[in-house]
Amino acid sequence: MKLDGKVAFVTGGRGGIGRAICERFEREGASVYAADLTKTGSLGSGGPGRFVQLDVSEDASVKAALDLVAKENGRLNILVNAAGIEIEKTIEETSLQEWNNCFAVNVTGTFLTSKHALALLRKAAEAEDSASIINFGSYDGFIADPGLAAYCATKGAVHALTRAMACDHGPEGIRVNAVCPGYVDTPMLQSFFSGDGSGGGGKTMDQLQQAVRDVHPMRRYGTPEDIANLVNWLASDEARYASGQLWVLDGGLSAQVQQMRL
Ligand SMILES: NC(=O)c1ccc[n+]([C@@H]2O[C@H](COP(=O)([O-])OP(=O)(O)OC[C@H]3O[C@@H](n4cnc5c(N)ncnc54)[C@H](O)[C@@H]3O)[C@@H](O)[C@H]2O)c1
Repeated sequence: MKLDGKVAFVTGGRGGIGRAICERFEREGASVYAADLTKTGSLGSGGPGRFVQLDVSEDASVKAALDLVAKENGRLNILVNAAGIEIEKTIEETSLQEWNNCFAVNVTGTFLTSKHALALLRKAAEAEDSASIINFGSYDGFIADPGLAAYCATKGAVHALTRAMACDHGPEGIRVNAVCPGYVDTPMLQSFFSGDGSGGGGKTMDQLQQAVRDVHPMRRYGTPEDIANLVNWLASDEARYASGQLWVLDGGLSAQVQQMRL
């Protein structure tokens, strides 16, 4: 198994993508902490991994969660920063509080969790064991979906932070990458469709979702398991030379010129 004996900490671990990652990591032999705001996260159910309550935007909360990992393991091999929220608005519609909240979870959350995990990751690296951080960017950090201004801005920030962290901590043996999904079928995506953030143009929900599938070269959305496959590889020793990169996984969506299909 790829992750035998590794210790992993996954934020958003009860969400759509985070849960699939926890499931996959456990199957690969890792000992997994599923960290989330609530026991049921966005999916409204439990799940794999040991649940740890935390709010990634709160310094003391993040520190307490990682203190627990330190006490129980003394090291950490894999940190996945998958907690995230979306605000489905243009900047004109977005209040300052909503803007700050989106940055607090998506950007500050990634900063705080990584900051408090570094000493534990360093312990693993010093013992010549693997140490890696996987952040969650988005294809929205490269190109914009309409009506998601604050979210797009946070993901661009996560991309830049990923590169900066990779430069700073690579010499210590800590790899840092970001996974940048396109559309993935999770509660976040369902909320995006119900908020009609894509400017549905009078289409029914089914028509809107089919239109979005059709625009993908692969003619479907991603599944959380598709994303977990890439995360699992990035976390494994097979990816030992991979760092500082933004790994887009979007069924080819961002490879095409959209206008050619109109
Ligand atoms: N679903 C997509 O289409 C998509 C596309 C690109 C990027 N992403 C990114 O992937 C990551 C996972 O998204 P998802 O689709 O699984 O979303 P999701 O809404 O299903 O899960 C997100 C999880 O984060 C948790 N969370 C929110 N605020 C938190 C906080 N302050 N502290 C701790 N946990 C908190 C939620 O409780 C939830 O369980 C996010 O960073 C998201 O931006 C998702």
